[in-house]
Amino acid sequence: MEIPHQTFETKAAQYKFLQDRFLDFLRETSDQQAILANTAALLYHYLEDVNWAGFYRWKHGKLVLGAFQGKPAVPEIPLGSGVCGTAAEQQSTQRIEDVSACPYHIACDSSSRSEIVVPIRGNGRLFGVIDIDSPLRGRFQEADQQGLEQLANLLGSYLAGTL
Ligand code: SME
Repeated sequence: MEIPHQTFETKAAQYKFLQDRFLDFLRETSDQQAILANTAALLYHYLEDVNWAGFYRWKHGKLVLGAFQGKPAVPEIPLGSGVCGTAAEQQSTQRIEDVSACPYHIACDSSSRSEIVVPIRGNGRLFGVIDIDSPLRGRFQEADQQGLEQLANLLGSYLAGTL
């Protein structure tokens, strides 16, 4: 399976493409690990200027590293810690322009400059977060947040079994 790289007029069109590929993954297998691994690879390889992309799963009251692409990362993050734990605690997207100016940021790759973390919720439950790092300062904008929140909604519905 090879997903062709395309150029897009808008970020909205790019994220629609990524959401559609995620829906394709659901048709190809019912294995959750395979679907999440492919989704992490999709984000890492099809978004520009990204050096880490993947998931932390909400498990027994903390965030546990899930499928990802990039350098090895901290395996567990308590609720309220780091950008990921803050997103989980507040159940809201955290968009960090400059991680060096964010006192609670947990560094996993020293080349990361900006980060976005989006909670994944479905049917009233928290399933985890999408985490993406970039080596560029201010890489993630409002349009990235919107596109990733739409993807997180699809993921949350899938994980809740309501998609
Ligand atoms: N920066 C994250 C930790 C995970 S790595 O970026 C992959 C945080 O502050 O929670």
